Amino acid sequence: MFVETALRATAVQHLAAFSFSFSLPAPCCILSYLLLHVCHTISLNVAGRSFGIDYDSNCFVKDGKPFRYISGSIHYSRVPSYYWKDRLLKMKMAGLDAIQTYVPWNYHEPQMGTYDFFGGKDLEYFLQLANDTGLLVILRAGPYICAEWDMGGLPAWLLEKKSVVLRSSDSDYLEAVERWMSVLLPKMRPYLYQNGGPIIMVQVENEYGSYFACDYNYLRFLLKLFRLHLGDEVVLFTTDGASQFHLKCGALQGLYATVDFAPGGNVTAAFLAQRNSEPKGPLVNSEFYTGWLDHWGHRHSVVPAQTIAKTLNEILACGANVNLYMFIGGTNFAYWNGANMPYMPQPTSYDYDAPLSEAGDLTEKYFALREVIGMQLPEGLIPPTTPKFAYGKVCLQKFINLLGFFLFFSQYFGYVLYRTTLPKNCVEPTPLSSPLNGVHDRAYVSVNGVPQGILERDKSLKINITGQAGANLDILVENMGRVNFGRYNNDFKGLVSNLTLAQDILVGWEIYPLDIDGAVNSDFFYLLDHPKRSAVKALSYEVPAFYTGTLSIPGGIPDLPQDTYVNFPGWTKGQIWINGFNLGRYWPARGPQLTLYVPRNVLVASVPNNITVLELERSPCSTQACEIEFVDEPNINATLQHETDKPPLFVRELSMKHL
Ligand SMILES: *[C@@H]1O[C@H](CO)[C@@H](O)[C@H](O)[C@H]1NC(C)=O
Ligand SMILES: *[C@@H]1O[C@H](CO)[C@@H](O)[C@H](O)[C@H]1NC(C)=O
Ligand SMILES: *[C@@H]1O[C@H](CO)[C@@H](O)[C@H](O)[C@H]1NC(C)=O
Ligand SMILES: *[C@@H]1O[C@H](CO)[C@@H](O)[C@H](O)[C@H]1NC(C)=O
Ligand SMILES: *[C@@H]1O[C@H](CO)[C@@H](O)[C@H](O)[C@H]1NC(C)=O
Ligand SMILES: *[C@@H]1O[C@H](CO)[C@@H](O)[C@H](O)[C@H]1NC(C)=O
Repeated sequence: MFVETALRATAVQHLAAFSFSFSLPAPCCILSYLLLHVCHTISLNVAGRSFGIDYDSNCFVKDGKPFRYISGSIHYSRVPSYYWKDRLLKMKMAGLDAIQTYVPWNYHEPQMGTYDFFGGKDLEYFLQLANDTGLLVILRAGPYICAEWDMGGLPAWLLEKKSVVLRSSDSDYLEAVERWMSVLLPKMRPYLYQNGGPIIMVQVENEYGSYFACDYNYLRFLLKLFRLHLGDEVVLFTTDGASQFHLKCGALQGLYATVDFAPGGNVTAAFLAQRNSEPKGPLVNSEFYTGWLDHWGHRHSVVPAQTIAKTLNEILACGANVNLYMFIGGTNFAYWNGANMPYMPQPTSYDYDAPLSEAGDLTEKYFALREVIGMQLPEGLIPPTTPKFAYGKVCLQKFINLLGFFLFFSQYFGYVLYRTTLPKNCVEPTPLSSPLNGVHDRAYVSVNGVPQGILERDKSLKINITGQAGANLDILVENMGRVNFGRYNNDFKGLVSNLTLAQDILVGWEIYPLDIDGAVNSDFFYLLDHPKRSAVKALSYEVPAFYTGTLSIPGGIPDLPQDTYVNFPGWTKGQIWINGFNLGRYWPARGPQLTLYVPRNVLVASVPNNITVLELERSPCSTQACEIEFVDEPNINATLQHETDKPPLFVRELSMKHL
């Protein structure tokens, strides 16, 4: 997924949903004659299973026969494992041959040398389920994935070497990649198609031609590393924007070059770009966009089903292979969202306006695309949309101010407190500013516990504060997600440049990383007494604070718990946990997402469910009802006072020269 496509996607949204008929033969692209003659057969390997490329006949060959796939993207990291089977079956029933998934490195190696493949991270179980469902797998193994995922899947600990050049021949980077791949790829090898598993192809880099480094030695290193672990037979590939510009640095001899492009454009021209790099071989669109991503503060993206169906028809009429990105987008739980530049973090929902909604619901788009895929629909029933339940309102109580409750831990996600003292009296409002735009990404400022305002990367670089000399100046800095695309991928968090108070540089900081998830998951947290509610005058800002409450699932109703959505009437911005599970960020004050998806697997019916809300800015509790509400419908498309795209504070760098 890459930023410049946003421009195209926006164009797509503005296209009228012009009429066309499914029954009309789609205009076939000029390359199709290359594909119409019968592909040659190649001999089977020893195991009787083979997958490869027939360059003479411009097609893939599976078990000796010509093969074309229609695939859909699902990220196992964005769907609760409880629902993997349901979503895969819905994809199968849409007529797909294959699924495509990314492997987010930072999800599996949270600390250097510590690996996690358990529970919701059990990739092998996911692959097994795909195979059991009769779906092939296109594995995008990284190391870099983009994907609107924190730092494009690269672990933040790589930044401990400040000068690291990610996605290049930087020796520390390569060493980390080599170590990680020596853990991941041996696990994948038994799941390769020729070894009896579902994986037909493995991607080694992602849209590398959109990155500034253009380091062929790095691509050669990856090629060699993947061959070492996976053998010579598996098809290794790359994906790039469909233009010569992108393929120039993204493609490498020995890695099959595929392209990605949006609906509504010129399919022939797009595949001609692929033909520049691969004069022969199958045509492949590895990311055909079924919708588009969102950013906080911007309109929810919608792409009409008809636009997608029309271009999909054209792609299929070329005999090309295609992956629908996304088929189900899912959710950026916890802190996993990424961001684009100028700094725009993505919201918790990754619904993507995809054929299956964030919650796996069957949509109109699902049925429209299923009709296009048409000829190869499997027998059987489509699993129904799962029911949603409106559990209603839950009262919360203010529990404790964040700053009164420290638990420290070295960490890469969440919140860090910076504390110093005011060097002088600020009786009059005095500007506190970040002249070099070094607040990464949002800072909640208070003086001796009195909230002063918010600094925000690329948006708000100066506020006024007041206070006495010697007072504690507390700056709680939120990491809102690391940049996942382009040159700014090295996205350091915290205060990355000096703050000034009037003319003076502030010094003498104490820095406290706050292990909030650890705290929320400790019993101690819930056993503390709630303070008495006191009358507080309504301020425009309050200091960050925890609110807690419980949700009991009603008895006497069959099949509960069910999925639900949580709404935040009167709340501003923060994070919510249910039974310790971090559901993600809420930010109704900015939108477009108002409700968060709550999958049923985080709820229990036997005992009350513990809810913890960390409100960073302002709760409704001093002026209105102190409650959140569980509803049975999502709202991720609110039209608030959306920002028009303001010119960025930064001059765009040369890496963006193709924009
Ligand atoms: C995957 O499914 C195929 C049948 O489609 C089966 O032959 C093969 O043994 C399965 N592989 C695994 C690892 O379960
Ligand atoms: C699409 O691109 C092809 C190849 O560049 C060109 O020949 C054709 O005229 C284009 N079609 C349209 C409708 O622009
Ligand atoms: C800060 O206070 C000064 C003096 O009261 C005022 O002129 C200025 O607009 C304020 N700046 C901000 C960012 O609020
Ligand atoms: C920040 O301020 C300190 C103290 O004045 C100074 O030593 C340092 O060079 C400054 N850093 C930057 C990046 O300007
Ligand atoms: C809620 O928290 C209490 C106190 O820590 C704990 O005993 C209980 O098991 C928790 N409930 C759930 C559903 O986790
Ligand atoms: C949001 O989506 C719902 C459901 O598709 C639709 O009914 C509603 O009109 C949309 N609202 C806005 C403001 O676009």
